[in-house]
Amino acid sequence: MDKLDLLKNLSAEFKRSDEIAKQVSLPISTLASLISQLEGEELIEVKREKKLIAQLTQEGAEAAVSELPERKLISQLSSEEEIGSLLQRLKLEPVALQWAKKNNWVMLLNAGGKTLVKKIASSESEQEKLLEKLKRDSEIKSGEEKVAKELRDRRLVKLLEQTLLFVKVSKKGVVALKAETQDKLELVNQVTAQMVKQGFSGSFREYDVGAEVNPVYAGKRHPLQLLADEMREVLVGMGFEEMNGPLVESSFWNFDVMFMPQNHPNRDLMDTFFLKKPNRANVPEKLASIVKEVQLNGWKTGSKGCANAWSVEEAQKTILRTHTTATTFRYLEKIGKKEIKTPCKFFSINKVFRNEAIDRTHLPEFHQIEGFVVADNLNLRSLMGVFTDFYKQLGISKIRFKPVFNPYTEPSMEIFGYHNSLSKWVEIGNSGIFRPETTAPLGIKQNVIAWGLALERAAMILFEVDDIRKVVGASTDLQWIRDFPELPEVLR
Ligand code: PHE
Repeated sequence: MDKLDLLKNLSAEFKRSDEIAKQVSLPISTLASLISQLEGEELIEVKREKKLIAQLTQEGAEAAVSELPERKLISQLSSEEEIGSLLQRLKLEPVALQWAKKNNWVMLLNAGGKTLVKKIASSESEQEKLLEKLKRDSEIKSGEEKVAKELRDRRLVKLLEQTLLFVKVSKKGVVALKAETQDKLELVNQVTAQMVKQGFSGSFREYDVGAEVNPVYAGKRHPLQLLADEMREVLVGMGFEEMNGPLVESSFWNFDVMFMPQNHPNRDLMDTFFLKKPNRANVPEKLASIVKEVQLNGWKTGSKGCANAWSVEEAQKTILRTHTTATTFRYLEKIGKKEIKTPCKFFSINKVFRNEAIDRTHLPEFHQIEGFVVADNLNLRSLMGVFTDFYKQLGISKIRFKPVFNPYTEPSMEIFGYHNSLSKWVEIGNSGIFRPETTAPLGIKQNVIAWGLALERAAMILFEVDDIRKVVGASTDLQWIRDFPELPEVLR
């Protein structure tokens, strides 16, 4: 029962709290606390009355059933008797005589040195009357106090002061009760066609805009897409243009043009997905013959080459591109042919494939952010500057470079970013300056700085995810995706 239920059980007339407790079957203590709450809100009026209660002691209870000693004395006294022998005969204390005297039942006479007790009356005493009444009703009314105190002094009763609560509904309470029932009966949640047709004079329930509702998972961009879009923004902001190339590539554009010998381990079935259909692609004949020279003897580049055999059939084999650097080289060819003017900066954010086992940090298909710059006087510092700038705009400020070997760049650097929740450095890119063996055949004389970054690795750092399978693929954590904000703070 709450305070409102209690309010409904009260009336406009004062009622005693112990009666209310019985009526609503609540323990007095619970009722008292509800009453004080209602009183605090002025929904009830409370009247307090003090009353005196007499509780019979054990002795008092016995006296109430049998009799008081003075009654025994008077009923056993015939007319008069010597005081000592009387008390002895009836086994009474002197107090019995004392009260008999006070009741005016007896008087004491002096007769020749002896004291005689003489009976004069035996009407019911005030104390006897009160004791009798207390068997039914413990309250001491006004006028009874003096006798009650006598009984207390005789240790026949204990006197207690009690506060009685009388409670009734206040004016404000009546209004509140009315409002409550009206609220239940009349507040309407929805407009119906009938109300529109026939008219409606009631009131509508107010909207609770703070109410809890079920989440709505509307369609939105995948977190990886968000990141890719953000990276695109950043790169475009840095003056890069977007490039695109085919997913299905020839080995030529994916490997040969990059000074990778045909027996290079990357070109193994174990690392690369080869296609059965189509299983051959055209390669540009003139460029292919130069690439062959470069690989066998260095052509005009001053290099010693990197292979002792080269077949055009191997170069024609079709694969799913293993990196978007294939696209970079298609664009570099256009630059060499002056179809695109320098200086220029290009990027792509696209899918690549590698025949790799899936684990926390590897997927067989993922995305690379690829980029390159062709301009005069580019060097390693230019490359490091571009990265520092790019990553800073994405919120990754802790980056590190490490020298590495790539067949097609010299020098080359791996890029590491600090993963906060893993507390370690994670590889997020590979980069370098293209070797003359790769750029000279295309007719490019300037330094070309270039890089490839795994989008998924950058995502792991920025989203603080330690398992990429949570973000993409069959074991995606759907709830994580649903809860991912459309405009994540981390990408700002
Ligand atoms: N192609 C390299 C990779 O897949 C990245 C790269 C691009 C490195 C361009 C150097 C220059 O990791």
